[in-house]
Amino acid sequence: MSKNIVLIGFMGSGKSAVAKKLAQKLKLKFVDLDKAIEEKEQKPITEIFSQKGEGHFRRIEKDMVKEVSAKDAQVIACGGGVALDPENIANLRQQGSLIYLKASPEAIFNRTKGKKHRPLLNVGQPEKKIEELLKFREAFYAQADYTVETSNLSVEEVANEIIKILKR
Ligand code: S3P
Repeated sequence: MSKNIVLIGFMGSGKSAVAKKLAQKLKLKFVDLDKAIEEKEQKPITEIFSQKGEGHFRRIEKDMVKEVSAKDAQVIACGGGVALDPENIANLRQQGSLIYLKASPEAIFNRTKGKKHRPLLNVGQPEKKIEELLKFREAFYAQADYTVETSNLSVEEVANEIIKILKR
């Protein structure tokens, strides 16, 4: 059995790009939770939020976490809100190492600006929203087994750092 590698952290911290790169390097399956939800629901996350609300999205997300956590040998990119639910963390931990991809509010703003697929950041002052949400969420992300500061690293560098950490 090969354990899962689970990437958590804020929107724009590079979870999906790094997970894809890591999966290639380690010959593991790449799973993007948001993509899996969109495929299952046959609609983009913005539409799930606008038609049925965030609560509904969180229920679907929780089911998807449970489903994916039951398998192994995967690199899993989680949506930014996954870590806020203790049951999600417990499920992902069962056979996974949790890695927090940390990024500064400035790096997050630069990476997310101009992109419209994240309903929580489609607001008048995204910089302010990022700061508020990040402050509230930091303690949840810090439950990870390891933290990698990604603000000044490329996708390749973050992937290599994770490989180094997991080899220790
Ligand atoms: C969310 C992050 C998004 C997506 C949804 C909600 C959040 O995923 O799950 O828009 O609550 O932080 P990314 O972190 O991949 O952008």
